Amino acid sequence: MCKNKNELATILAQAGNHLDDKNAVALPLYLSSNYRHPTLEQARNYDPKKEYTYSRIATPNRQAVEKTMTQLEEGNAAFAVSSGMAAIQLALSFLKTGDHVISLDDLYGGDFRYFRYLQNHYGIDFSQWNGKSINELLAKITAKTRLIWLETPSNPMMKTLDIEKIAQAVHQKSPDVLLAVDNTFLTPVYQRPLELGADIVVHSATKYLSGHNDLLGGILVVKDPQLASQYYDYYITTGDTLDSFDSWLLLRSLKTLKVRMKQHTANAKKIVEFLKQDSRVTKVLYPSQGGMVSFYLQNEQQVEAVLNNVKVITFAESLGGVESLITIPYYQTHADVAEEQRKRLGITPTLLRLSVGLEDPTDLINDLKQALDR
Ligand SMILES: Cc1ncc(COP(=O)(O)O)c(C=O)c1O
Repeated sequence: MCKNKNELATILAQAGNHLDDKNAVALPLYLSSNYRHPTLEQARNYDPKKEYTYSRIATPNRQAVEKTMTQLEEGNAAFAVSSGMAAIQLALSFLKTGDHVISLDDLYGGDFRYFRYLQNHYGIDFSQWNGKSINELLAKITAKTRLIWLETPSNPMMKTLDIEKIAQAVHQKSPDVLLAVDNTFLTPVYQRPLELGADIVVHSATKYLSGHNDLLGGILVVKDPQLASQYYDYYITTGDTLDSFDSWLLLRSLKTLKVRMKQHTANAKKIVEFLKQDSRVTKVLYPSQGGMVSFYLQNEQQVEAVLNNVKVITFAESLGGVESLITIPYYQTHADVAEEQRKRLGITPTLLRLSVGLEDPTDLINDLKQALDR
């Protein structure tokens, strides 16, 4: 899926290098909310891509993250913001009252909460697609459709979509409809949606990009320079930008993204093997890459036993970090999704979502075993 693997590893390893004017190898942390103008002439003509004025507009640390993410996702511009939801808000900021959006029916629960807000307060229309037939998706496009919003693999049902086929079909039918993909689960190590024909990519950088459960961040990458300029105006004005310290942490984490993703995958495959042979596990959902695994247990007593007794794995929301986390989407990440929709998708009280970390997989398997045996 991911072309130029060596190139990606090099971009990651050297993220932020060669940017410091004092020749520091690792980009230092710039904690300043504002920057001195050497002259009035400079203030009149400054280039926001090279010079700094005020940290809402740009900081050296945030720019280094944005430059790296632009390269990794092969976009025209990237924006580093304060959370994944802030990236989604920025992505949808070009919509106007009366516009129509089609989204996959299985997404992070916060997306649906935000879509409802936009529908109720701004009169933007949302409809859903189940991810199965591309013809059905095309049939949902109307003269008002501006955006198609996908997650692949989706959270938590692991629906996987063929971005390339969808992009071709949508752009052939409606060249003006934009295709956005939330690439949080696979990251550019395994999937580069813009290369496959999408127009917009978003990430919750809180997850794999930062990978250590110690910051909240979001990334938006876009292909079209005109749309990038519209996003830039919105972003420097509203100021949901990622601060310098979190940008510094994120850049440092990106350097190990490829090795982390490979190990997450290797560990997840071992966990999947274990889950598949345990009689108490009735179904395992795994998209073949990455560290996210969803599975069903036979009953809620077993769910309770696992969540109350795991010791190596932590019962907590979020995902993508070095430490393994387990969550119950029905009561946590997807609690706000309508009951009828959860039922249709299969988000039930016996579904668990495991973010497989970088611990020794034997310890993780033994932990699940001892918790299931309670
Ligand atoms: C796939 C996906 N996208 C977006 C988000 C939102 O990101 P954040 O929590 O950083 O706002 C999440 C959060 O879990 C997610 O799982």
